[in-house]
Amino acid sequence: MVNTIELPGGKSTALNSSRKIILPILILILLAIIPLYLYSNSPSPEITINGSVPFFKKNKVSPPLHFPQNTSNDSTRVTSDYKCDIFSGNWVPYPKGAYYTNETKCVIDDRQNCMKFGRPDIEFKKWRWKPDECDLPLFNAVEFLDLVRGKTLAFVGDSLGRNQMQSLICLLASIASPAYVSCVQETRWLYPDYNFTIAAFWSPLLVRAHDADPNGYSLNSLMNIYLDEADEAWATQIENVDIVIISAGQWFFRPFMYYENGKVIGCHICHKRNITDLTGHYGYRMAFRTAFRTLLRLQNFKGLTILRTYSPSHFENGEWNKGGNCVRTRPFAKEEVKLDGYMLESYLTQVEELRAAEKEGRKRGLKFRMLDTTEAMVMRPDGHPNHYGHWPHENESIADCVHWCMPGPIDTWNEFLLQMLKMEDQGAIDGKLQKYP
Ligand SMILES: *[C@@H]1O[C@H](CO)[C@@H](O)[C@H](O)[C@H]1NC(C)=O
Ligand SMILES: *[C@@H]1O[C@H](CO)[C@@H](O)[C@H](O)[C@H]1NC(C)=O
Ligand SMILES: *[C@@H]1O[C@H](CO)[C@@H](O)[C@H](O)[C@H]1NC(C)=O
Ligand SMILES: *[C@@H]1O[C@H](CO)[C@@H](O)[C@H](O)[C@H]1NC(C)=O
Ligand SMILES: *[C@@H]1O[C@H](CO)[C@@H](O)[C@H](O)[C@H]1NC(C)=O
Ligand SMILES: *[C@@H]1O[C@H](CO)[C@@H](O)[C@H](O)[C@H]1NC(C)=O
Ligand SMILES: *[C@@H]1O[C@H](CO)[C@@H](O)[C@H](O)[C@H]1NC(C)=O
Repeated sequence: MVNTIELPGGKSTALNSSRKIILPILILILLAIIPLYLYSNSPSPEITINGSVPFFKKNKVSPPLHFPQNTSNDSTRVTSDYKCDIFSGNWVPYPKGAYYTNETKCVIDDRQNCMKFGRPDIEFKKWRWKPDECDLPLFNAVEFLDLVRGKTLAFVGDSLGRNQMQSLICLLASIASPAYVSCVQETRWLYPDYNFTIAAFWSPLLVRAHDADPNGYSLNSLMNIYLDEADEAWATQIENVDIVIISAGQWFFRPFMYYENGKVIGCHICHKRNITDLTGHYGYRMAFRTAFRTLLRLQNFKGLTILRTYSPSHFENGEWNKGGNCVRTRPFAKEEVKLDGYMLESYLTQVEELRAAEKEGRKRGLKFRMLDTTEAMVMRPDGHPNHYGHWPHENESIADCVHWCMPGPIDTWNEFLLQMLKMEDQGAIDGKLQKYP
């Protein structure tokens, strides 16, 4: 199976077909323990650069946020009917650059600390997201902390959730520093002055899973995954959480034996004759469904659930473990990049499951929302650590084109989050306004 980003087909241009960008097929970032995984038989992610039909024009499904036109007066409650989809736009130059630096007193994981590891170019920090129909206000730490006073915000899922959490803590660092409270399966940060807690629950598959290979865990080893059983690591801890951010997606394309109702119902690349290969996206879909259903069924859960949509990777010039890297230093324009293939399916699958949960949630007074980062991030091939971010003992020859440098474009996720929380607070997103087509 060939996995490529096709560059434009124009025969006379410099970007001819001999310059294919090979994308990794599946990148499982086994955080903290194992760096990067790839299984070569899995479906192919594709970003078509300079694709003829920009993906988001055609398939964009995020609901518009009810958004104030004039945000300079924060004390005003927004009553305008102006709607703006803040997730649809372009990156524009912003010479002032980032909110914080690698010297800011906050935790920047070495693996995303691109400046510490000598990333030479700094232009990637000098862009801001400009929605097509309005402006995205700058992150305001005071405003954010006021909105979350007394609340608990939890990141559930994979390392990209941790990446966003650390970005948030750095964005808040100008106003407040949290106390670190670590537990075994989770991490908590407490802002005492605001009685605000940030928690992170490590659960990259969202559902219960364990090794099934007698030889133990390895790159292509089989795992049993119980698609209808939420992972207790988060499910037993979430009932009193006010805001849940679900962050998952990169881990679903390895070999799995799929279980439902305690029985094998199929697999993904198990190579067993009597077991149907249901594809990686089957397990992916069911895991999101189970996570959302778990939240819908928890008796005392009253929180807001936010799905952070699929975060694209940008390996070029080779597969992830064969010299693939991400050396670009500028964002793409919207017209230059198109999400399709495996990544598009990943995105749309999430959106479908979120929509179903949103509908069900409305009956029960529970809110499900989308932090729709995919369009913005597919345009940021320049935002990844590449070789500038790793544990000291790690093999530096493997580039990380999955996570995001800090500071960098991931800070925009929290600008989005602030606007979403603001709108929720003002009651401006209600069933009527957050339309799902
Ligand atoms: C896309 O096409 C435009 C114009 O045809 C060109 O200027 C630009 O460099 C191309 N971008 C990429 C990433 O190939
Ligand atoms: C936005 O509000 C500020 C003060 O609240 C005011 O000075 C400015 O003129 C307003 N801008 C628009 C476009 O209404
Ligand atoms: C902000 O809005 C409040 C309430 O409408 C108003 O009293 C105040 O004058 C406004 N401030 C500015 C700077 O426009
Ligand atoms: C921050 O980055 C600069 C290079 O931009 C580097 O010289 C410095 O050592 C870094 N500081 C820390 C604390 O990582
Ligand atoms: C802090 O917030 C929690 C809810 O998250 C609440 O139960 C508790 O009473 C608050 N503590 C104080 C001191 O306000
Ligand atoms: C598939 O066949 C193997 C023996 O070849 C058997 O042990 C296993 O139970 C079968 N699985 C299913 C789901 O039928
Ligand atoms: C580091 O990765 C490269 C490319 O994947 C490989 O050739 C090399 O053997 C690895 N080195 C170590 C020490 O693992």
